[in-house]
Amino acid sequence: MAAIQEEVFACSVSEFVRGTEKKRITVNDNDIFIVKIGDKYFALDSFCYHAGGPLYNGDIEELGGRACMVCPWHKYKVCIDTGQNFYQSVDPKNPKTSVKWTAGQRRHRTHAVIVRDGKIYVTLTEKDGTLDSDQYNGHRA
Ligand code: FES
Repeated sequence: MAAIQEEVFACSVSEFVRGTEKKRITVNDNDIFIVKIGDKYFALDSFCYHAGGPLYNGDIEELGGRACMVCPWHKYKVCIDTGQNFYQSVDPKNPKTSVKWTAGQRRHRTHAVIVRDGKIYVTLTEKDGTLDSDQYNGHRA
């Protein structure tokens, strides 16, 4: 996935006061949100790949060892670092095996984040229509 834009100032680290937190912002007319987990920051498009729900307003949960956003509309899970859908699976040929968390394909768009001198910068990735979330995340007018 190619980055199409240069690094853009998004917000300051000081705007995050808790260990795990999120903040919805606009970067170059794109509606995204920043997630802080510990000392790491991630950026995702605001609206859910499933049906355009407000993913930015979902809960942050650790599931199966992965940090995920849980969409408030239908409870779909998105891996915060990769944008992969995350679900519990069972092997139908071996039903006695336990259910396990599984990362599927990348369906939700994420963006590169870098922190420098207390400031958070985002490099947006191209909304090229290849990810399911692209249909719900256009530019803000
Ligand atoms: S719109 Fe997000 S789970 Fe359906």
